[in-house]
Amino acid sequence: MNILVTGGTGYIGSHTAVELLNEGYGVILLDNFSNSKPEVINRIKRITGKDFRSYNIDLLDKKRLGKVFEENQLDAVIHFAGFKAVGESVANPIKYYQNNVVGTLVLCETMSRYSVKKLVFSSSATVYGTDNNSPLTEDMTLSTNNPYGSSKMIIEMILRDLYYSDREWRVSILRYFNPIGAHESGLIGEDPNGEPNNLMPYITQVAVGTRNKLTIFGNDYPTHDGTGIRDYIHVVDLAKGHIKALERVLVEPCIDVFNLGTGIGYSVLDLIRHFEESTGIKIPFVLSGRRPGDVAVCYANPEKAAKTLNWKAEKDIHDMCRDSWRWQSKNPDGYKLV
Ligand code: NAD
Ligand code: UFG
Repeated sequence: MNILVTGGTGYIGSHTAVELLNEGYGVILLDNFSNSKPEVINRIKRITGKDFRSYNIDLLDKKRLGKVFEENQLDAVIHFAGFKAVGESVANPIKYYQNNVVGTLVLCETMSRYSVKKLVFSSSATVYGTDNNSPLTEDMTLSTNNPYGSSKMIIEMILRDLYYSDREWRVSILRYFNPIGAHESGLIGEDPNGEPNNLMPYITQVAVGTRNKLTIFGNDYPTHDGTGIRDYIHVVDLAKGHIKALERVLVEPCIDVFNLGTGIGYSVLDLIRHFEESTGIKIPFVLSGRRPGDVAVCYANPEKAAKTLNWKAEKDIHDMCRDSWRWQSKNPDGYKLV
């Protein structure tokens, strides 16, 4: 079985490529390196000891994308390619709708043309908006408050319409909660451009000395310690969830939506404490006001994925902290100096 992985050198795509290769799938990676480095390809090969083809292609380039389908006998696509910075999407919505929504349309059109109609798609818990109470279930009403989230919601709608228009499509929409951690080899991990938006890469950059201190956004939320609660999930568990979703789309006509989370919420202060315990490194922080658009509490009800996909997150918060730190300490500047 040959699987095209779009955005395959990104954070989640690279970990999923490793799991696919370990499971014996053929992998074809596609990325335009807008938010990743070619070195990731060497690292994936080093971890798995397996070779695969990779393409430096923009998803929006219909012609070159078509060639990938011509040159490879593809069975399914796992689609990670997209932009993901919420703040940037507010400042530049067209860039986000263009890349995320139009990119997905070009991909689906090409898949249809080459009769490859099996797709696993990266959505986000952000589509649950601010009005639903956690634990979040897949049947809740969706809403968004930024163009990034809207792009995910629109793509979910497009994929549903596609399935109802042509029942040969098999689609699995995965709503990720907060992926952190890294492969246990320390060879691949999250490598944000510039100042990190997300909590864990900020913590590890403080730990490694790249940044002086963490700023905690809000300590007046209605939570046990006033800081925001999230469902952190190890990226390797998340990657394994994709294998399960893939197995299902390969055999079953479906349009499914699954939460991929642990079902456990940790506050910002909880995460700092667990990181300090796991690594022995102190994380200095200052308290600041809330970040616009943040919800107080967000965690999954992961039962549907457990029941239907037979998937459950296995790694705990210490694994997540330890593996995030191993990656950062072995690669203080990410892939940049390579
Ligand atoms: P990432 O930025 O590390 O990976 C995305 C990859 O896609 C990058 O390597 C980038 O270069 C590539 N890419 C972007 N646009 C492209 C295009 N037009 N053509 C080809 N390649 C392109 O992000 P990630 O954290 O691995 O996220 C993967 C997917 O999961 C994204 O769709 C993201 O929105 C979604 N997601 C991520 C999170 C998270 O917290 N990381 C949470 C929910 C959903
Ligand atoms: N936080 C800080 N300081 C920081 C960064 C984050 O205190 O420097 C706090 C946030 O306020 C929040 C928590 O840490 O309470 C987690 O924040 P992240 O930015 O790591 O994660 P979010 O839940 O805000 O956002 C993530 C993805 C989004 C996605 C969303 C919902 O980054 O793309 O989950 O799935 F939309």
